[in-house]
Amino acid sequence: MLQLKSSTRCSNSSARSRFLHLALAIFGAVSMLQLASCTKKNAQPSHVIKIGEYGSFTGSEATFGVSTNEGLKLAIKEKNAAGGIKGKKIELISYDNQGKPEEARAMVQRLITQDQVLAVIGEVASTRSLAAAPVAQQYKVPMISPSSTNPQVTEIGDYIFRVCFIDPFQGLVMAKFARENLKKAKVAILKDVKSDYSTGLSDVFEREFKAMGGEIVGIESYASGDTDFKAQLTQIKGKKPEAIFVPGYYTEVGMIARQARQLGMKDVPLLGGDGWDSEKLWEIGGEAIKGSYFSNHYTTESDNPKVVDFIKRYREEYKGKTPDGLAALGYDAGQILIAAMERASELTPQAIRNEIAKTKDFVGVTGQISINDQRNATKSAVVVQVADKVNRFVTTITP
Ligand code: PHE
Repeated sequence: MLQLKSSTRCSNSSARSRFLHLALAIFGAVSMLQLASCTKKNAQPSHVIKIGEYGSFTGSEATFGVSTNEGLKLAIKEKNAAGGIKGKKIELISYDNQGKPEEARAMVQRLITQDQVLAVIGEVASTRSLAAAPVAQQYKVPMISPSSTNPQVTEIGDYIFRVCFIDPFQGLVMAKFARENLKKAKVAILKDVKSDYSTGLSDVFEREFKAMGGEIVGIESYASGDTDFKAQLTQIKGKKPEAIFVPGYYTEVGMIARQARQLGMKDVPLLGGDGWDSEKLWEIGGEAIKGSYFSNHYTTESDNPKVVDFIKRYREEYKGKTPDGLAALGYDAGQILIAAMERASELTPQAIRNEIAKTKDFVGVTGQISINDQRNATKSAVVVQVADKVNRFVTTITP
């Protein structure tokens, strides 16, 4: 606008107007420079590809965020070592949401508007994915949740994907396992009312278990962060269940296992879902959690070369640590995003989104991954039994 004005005045040859012209031209040049430096600061530097990650690196679900981050970083490190994507190195920007949904939302906003990432990986917990996904959808930046299993997560919109199975399947797996493998007829449920994952999985389990002729003898609830579950467990004990389904996260589940044993429920196994998957479960639950079962995304006992090789490389990278399911899913999510960026005709969020949607028969550590029309992955689940510092593989259940 300023430049246009100054050129209009150009036809006027008075000294005053020449001065004005000069002043305006300088002003215009300065503001152009400012604009250029602004653009440069905010744009993708040409030699790197920025991707964002948000997760719980601290708090009562810290192992979720840490494991995912380790798996994701390994995938990126390997790709960068092999030359990167289209000659550019991948840069990962990760933020800790401390396990809080409102923080998760703010972090995704920041990754997109300030850091200008091309894609976002996260979250693990469905409640936090549900809080943050609307932001990614609004800005049309693709988001891949490695592990949120609540069906609603990807329903947020066409930029939201996941590389794991969903809870209608996971709930069916555990109902089937309880009814057919363990031959249980009476089961109680103890769910976390503050978690979309927990309430969703509880509903599916209840429906499926009843459909198989089982009886749900009682449903009790708690809220994430609780430490005393004795009142609910006493109610449950009175109903004489043969097993208790506890679709929660490891910190509370470990305490629930201990308190159930303290109340004398010794031969009543606990059953759960992927939210149990943490080495902390053994630490918190101790002897009391041994012998219980949960469904998960992969087993470290697999002899599949892809899994064996991943475990070896992960251990080399992280001082002998064994990767849990989240580490494997973080790695798979990273590889799927990398493959999509490689196929994309240009490195824009939209082109990357379109390629993620086309993912077909990708051989991941957690199984073969194809993204369906609902932007979910259809995969098998495994059931494992908690033993001493290891989860023993029991069975695989295919959709
Ligand atoms: N599926 C859980 C959720 O949606 C998160 C989770 C996945 C936790 C895998 C542990 C392992 O909330």
